[in-house]
Amino acid sequence: MKKKNAHSKINKEINKQVNRRDFISKSTLLGAGLATAPLAFAGSNNSMGQEIVNKPAYLQGKRMLGTLEVSPIGLGCMSMKSGSYNPPRDKKDMIPVIRGAVDLGVTFFDTAEVYGPFTDEELVGEALAPVRDEVVIASKFGFDFTNGKRAGRNSRPEHIRKAVEGMLKRLRTDRIDLLYLHRLDPNVPVEDVAGTVKELIKEGKALHFGLSEVSPQTIRKAHAEQPVSALQSEYSLIQRALENEVIDTCDELGIGFVPWGPMCRGFLGDKFNEYSRFSDDSRFAAVPYFMPEAIKAHMEVLILVREWARKKNATPAQISLAWLLAQKPHIVPIPGTTKLHHIKENMGALNIQFTNNELKEFREVLEKIRLVGVRGPETALVDQ
Ligand SMILES: NC(=O)c1ccc[n+]([C@@H]2O[C@H](COP(=O)([O-])OP(=O)(O)OC[C@H]3O[C@@H](n4cnc5c(N)ncnc54)[C@H](OP(=O)(O)O)[C@@H]3O)[C@@H](O)[C@H]2O)c1
Repeated sequence: MKKKNAHSKINKEINKQVNRRDFISKSTLLGAGLATAPLAFAGSNNSMGQEIVNKPAYLQGKRMLGTLEVSPIGLGCMSMKSGSYNPPRDKKDMIPVIRGAVDLGVTFFDTAEVYGPFTDEELVGEALAPVRDEVVIASKFGFDFTNGKRAGRNSRPEHIRKAVEGMLKRLRTDRIDLLYLHRLDPNVPVEDVAGTVKELIKEGKALHFGLSEVSPQTIRKAHAEQPVSALQSEYSLIQRALENEVIDTCDELGIGFVPWGPMCRGFLGDKFNEYSRFSDDSRFAAVPYFMPEAIKAHMEVLILVREWARKKNATPAQISLAWLLAQKPHIVPIPGTTKLHHIKENMGALNIQFTNNELKEFREVLEKIRLVGVRGPETALVDQ
């Protein structure tokens, strides 16, 4: 017999909230997601400590990752200081971007020990310190470091504890709202990792447990030891391998799903074209779906996204995020950006809705497009 979907109850309530969102009219602030003024909340302060009024109705639609409430779109902070897909940015330029995100209604911020390493957590900690109690900070452990460089995986219990102490200092906080295992250590059973996080939760150093890039089997084993709030793995209109069982497993167990790479690393934000090429030392050069043949093939996806953008009076970035949000109510994408105007644009995705027929029509065309260099469906069934 099919197991009862643990999300169904929560989802009903969230759907009600989302449908009730009464988005503000297109002609006003977020017409195409290109708001120019900071948004305001009733009864709270903005990131600069100024009192703000009148929370826009659309921001009332929060999403749940397990029992953790977050804004429906988060902010991926990876490339800000560590410069994974761009030159590292200056802290003084990125702090206003993170604080500006808070003013735009983002309450969910994603970083990791390995980004930098360490410098991204320091940035996020400093930027969010003035609004610490109003935001959810997610970070990840799972690696060893030698001379400031990543040196293999390590999730031994004593190492996790040491890592968390460092994370708390850098994040300037006494608790990590969502503590993820970044990559499974093949030498440590996931139950031991979950057991250690369970203790950290009891001690108040972490509030929720997350996993990243693991198989359905690993999710189940970890969840049995310590309930998992979120799984973070790559998912976008182009990279859809996880539609094979992983997302359904999250659904069944009541686990939220956080797509990383929701813009296919900028491609779905219309940042590149079929002539884009990357130097050998660029991180893009190592990504198979940024090879020339792949970019050429995926222009068809971008053309489809642009068509929907025209139909919905939106931008390609907004369509790409709105499509993810429409797949399940427990999906919370975390687009990475170094630009405040892109955060405004991305939050505008909350203004776009798809009917079931539109989603069907979209997918029928999408599934006919040949993808190159993406993960095969079988990769969803093994730990990465
Ligand atoms: N768990 C994991 O293993 C894992 C792996 C990778 C990443 N992550 C997390 O997921 C986050 C997001 O993933 P990602 O950064 O790899 O990929 P992504 O979000 O798909 O793409 C980021 C790129 O999209 C561009 N972008 C964002 N909004 C845009 C817009 N409106 N228009 C045009 N371009 C736009 C950004 O450039 P601009 O700066 O120019 O806006 C950036 O180059 C990361 O920041 C990190 O926190 C987790």
